[in-house]
Amino acid sequence: MGNLKLTSVTKSFGALTVLHDIDLTIDNGKFVVFVGPSGCGKSTLLRIIAGLEDISGGGIEIGGRDVVHLSPAERKIAMVFQSYALYPHMSVRKNLAFGLENLKFKRSEIDARIAEAARMLALEPYLDRKPRQLSGGQRQRVAIGRSIVRNPDIFLFDEPLSNLDAALRVQTRAEITRLHRQLKTTMIYVTHDQVEAMTMADEIVVLNGGRIEQVGTPLELFDKPRNLFVAGFLGSPRMNILKGKVVAVGETGVTVDVGYGVPLQARIDPAAVAAGQAVLLGIRPAHFAVGGEGLPFVVQYHESLGTETYVYGTFEGSEEQVIVHQAGHFAPERGALLRIMPQPGRMHVFDPDSGLALPRAIEERSAAHEHA
Ligand SMILES: Nc1ncnc2c1ncn2[C@@H]1O[C@H](COP(=O)(O)OP(=O)(O)O)[C@@H](O)[C@H]1O
Ligand SMILES: [Mg+2]
Repeated sequence: MGNLKLTSVTKSFGALTVLHDIDLTIDNGKFVVFVGPSGCGKSTLLRIIAGLEDISGGGIEIGGRDVVHLSPAERKIAMVFQSYALYPHMSVRKNLAFGLENLKFKRSEIDARIAEAARMLALEPYLDRKPRQLSGGQRQRVAIGRSIVRNPDIFLFDEPLSNLDAALRVQTRAEITRLHRQLKTTMIYVTHDQVEAMTMADEIVVLNGGRIEQVGTPLELFDKPRNLFVAGFLGSPRMNILKGKVVAVGETGVTVDVGYGVPLQARIDPAAVAAGQAVLLGIRPAHFAVGGEGLPFVVQYHESLGTETYVYGTFEGSEEQVIVHQAGHFAPERGALLRIMPQPGRMHVFDPDSGLALPRAIEERSAAHEHA
């Protein structure tokens, strides 16, 4: 047991480097989610941790022990894949037993572990069935069961719910979370589904192009993305980005002109910017107040989801689409002009060159902390 520590891990396939200098520590017992776009290196990183793939450089320690040259079994790691890869000709019981029999476990120990895993995953009624006699969700529970009986120090999951339909995904998601609460074993879970990431993780690691963009709790990443990539990746629909220019620097923030004759107040550290500087403002769809004074927003269309409505449109005279969220029913006509105002304190400000978030004003930082 113990912490998992990756130090400057790199991985290349021939001339192609797919992981660059990954530094990451995962505390024992945590549920950590790797997210990022397809091809960013999530599976490769997981396979490297498992010992299924060699590293090209750097180090891996588990509980202070160098594991670089150890096999997956020696690392005490079990992995669950998207495809369940069950043995079709074996019963569920036999599928669960198989790995332990190969490791020459005693029959009584095997039976006890299968009984425990079957109880946890509600698989008792299906132990004598073949995989083809199970639903997709039940098959995936067997695959998870196969990793549980091995009693690993770390569980790795690579998009385990991708093959399930929407309702089963929600249910199995809750089951895995419950399993983690019961077992209190470190779990590393790969997904490109941000709802899974937000709802399951103690900590999220955002990957992009083989690099770590940010590590933090779901709400830390949502409330304080450190750059444009993280800001755009988490949150659905995505954050609106407006081009602007700092026109005045005050004591507790700055005034930004985004056009349309409506100056906006952003609470960032005044020491971090100069008047005249170009910035990008990030505003999530839910963080506009509709009505009163505000930016002139022309409605294109809306999507009513029953409990909430997304309104799509543009600022008057602009081409770029902006998305506004409203709770409940709201049905503005196409072409209607609305006034929308970003909520003070919920605006994110980025440097257009580096893409980095500019530091918040001091009181904002502590307020955001209380909020989280
Ligand atoms: N065995 C391999 N040989 C060559 N390239 C690979 C191999 N495995 C993965 N890659 C490449 O590494 C990159 C990361 O892949 P992967 O880790 O599977 O991404 P993700 O799981 O985030 O979608 C991709 O560009 C992929 O094509
Ligand atoms: Mg993958």
